[in-house]
This record gives sequence, C-alpha cells and structure tokens, in this order.
Amino acid sequence: MSRIAYVNGLYVPHREACVHIEDRGYQFADGVYEVFSLHRGQMIGETGHMERLAHSLSELQIDWPVSRRALSILTREVARRNRVRDGLIYLQITRGVARRDHPFPENAESALVITARRLPALDKQALRSGVGVITLPDIRWKRHDIKSVSLLPNILGKQQAREAGAYEAWLVDDDAMVTEGTSSNAWIVTKDGELVTHNTSQAILNGITRLSVLEAAAEAGVKFSERPFSVEEALSAKEAFITSSTSHVKAVTSIDGKTVGNGHVGELTARMLDLYVEFIEGKGGPSKTDTWN
Ligand code: PDD
Repeated sequence: MSRIAYVNGLYVPHREACVHIEDRGYQFADGVYEVFSLHRGQMIGETGHMERLAHSLSELQIDWPVSRRALSILTREVARRNRVRDGLIYLQITRGVARRDHPFPENAESALVITARRLPALDKQALRSGVGVITLPDIRWKRHDIKSVSLLPNILGKQQAREAGAYEAWLVDDDAMVTEGTSSNAWIVTKDGELVTHNTSQAILNGITRLSVLEAAAEAGVKFSERPFSVEEALSAKEAFITSSTSHVKAVTSIDGKTVGNGHVGELTARMLDLYVEFIEGKGGPSKTDTWN
C-alpha cells in the first residue's frame, strides 16, 4: 500500500508530495508543527495538541489554514487513508508561499501538510529498557513554548547524542538547570520519591505526554513538583525518565555516562508508564490544556 500525504487541499502519493520553493517554512522555518500519537486507532491528547497548536499559531500570528474542526477531520482522514492505527500523525503549518522577504507577506495563505506513519504498537516491555542521555548547553532561541519547525539546535543536539551512543540530549540553561530534551521533556525522581519536571514557561515545550503523566500522578496520589532541576541534582536522583508522544515514558539510566540510581529502570518510572497507559486508554489525554507558557 502506498502512503498518502495531504498537501494544501489535496491527497497525493507520499513520494510525489511537495511544496513550493518559496514556502516560508522552507526558506525561514516560518511555521509550526504537531506530532500526534495514535494508539490502537485513537489519537492521544487531541484536544491538548490542538490547543497547543492554537497557541503556537497565535504567538506567531499565522492564520489557521482551515478551521480547527476541519483540521481534526483531516488528521483522522490521513491516518485512515494510510491505515495507521498505531503510529504518528505529523502536521505542519507555515505562513505560506511568498516572494522571499523577511516581513510577513500581505496576502500569503498559510500552508498545511499532514502525513501519517505506522510505528510498532506501544509496547510496555520494550519501553522498560533504559536509555542514556548526554547534557549539552541549551543554545536555542527563548520561546520553547512555541512548537516551531525551526529545530536546528535540536537536531544538532540529537545527532551529538547519537554519536555519543546516547538516545537523547538534555539541554542545560545558563543557570545549569535542565530545561528539556531535544524532542522530549525531562524528569527525575528525588531520593524521597518525588517526581520533578521543569515548570511550564517559555523555557520548555509543555508536552502533551508530560501533562498526561502529571494528571495520572495526581490521580494516583504520587507526589510531584514542577520546578527546574540541575544536572547535579539529576546525577544524584534515584530515577530519571523522558516523556514524549513518540517515546511515551522512557527510563533514563545514565547521564553523561554516569549511572542514575541503581542503573536499572526505576520502580516509580515503571509505575508511571503503567499509570500513563491506563490514563490515555481511559481518558484519551490530558484535560488540563490551558497552560502553554
Ligand atoms: N517532540 N520538548 C520538545 C522540545 C519536543 O520537541 C517534544 C515533542 C516534547 C514532548 O512533547 P509531547 O509530549 O507533546 O510529544 C518536549 C516531538 C515528538 C517531535 O518533535 O517529534
């Protein structure tokens, strides 16, 4: 079966899908995106993703290319046409096509691309293997709350991680605090069993998975704190993990080559993965979807 992409009003074979060379996303990274996870045919956290997309668009003054309701129908349709029940939907909106010039064009129409890709079904057993992270200076711009397609520091960081044999890079601000990963949120479990992840601000992307895990923790009575933590604190933490729509809840067992806790997937991390899966299967995603910075 050949893959189908949605490009500005048309469903086209994925291998032939293309955008104009003067699309501002291509020339200026003047656009935003969302990655939705599909689990057993259900979109996880659709409302949250749409609310966050609304925030990104509004902060950059990019118009919705179609109504929010139409966008929701289109994303489902792309998943359906590609027969994706477990995998991801990628959605990108740019300011549109215009002669290359820095100020916003007067009459460009925002451009929309949606693709879907199958991935192996969420496998708790596979997720229960730990990964390593490295730490790198956070050299990104200062609006991480906006899910911009401008991802150069993120891809450079991820590449550096891979070259170091690690899965992810945790980005560290000028105060030696971990903000987040290049494509995930960062968490630790303190010695007294408290979950810690960076508070929402312009310093992080408020992950939909992050919100689900926080809500699942609150429901289960697990202590948590939303605050920055330092690399030093992470190195002396009992456990660590990352969250994202594609990694779900994934244990971190080493930081910069140093073992976290006992070097195995932590007890609370494993519990949070179970609670997260239970939460998304029961509720579909987070209900608290109004804090994007
Ligand atoms: N990345 N922080 C950053 C910088 C991210 O790029 C992502 C997601 C997250 C986690 O957000 P969520 O839980 O909503 O997926 C945090 C996606 C998966 C990506 O760029 O592919």
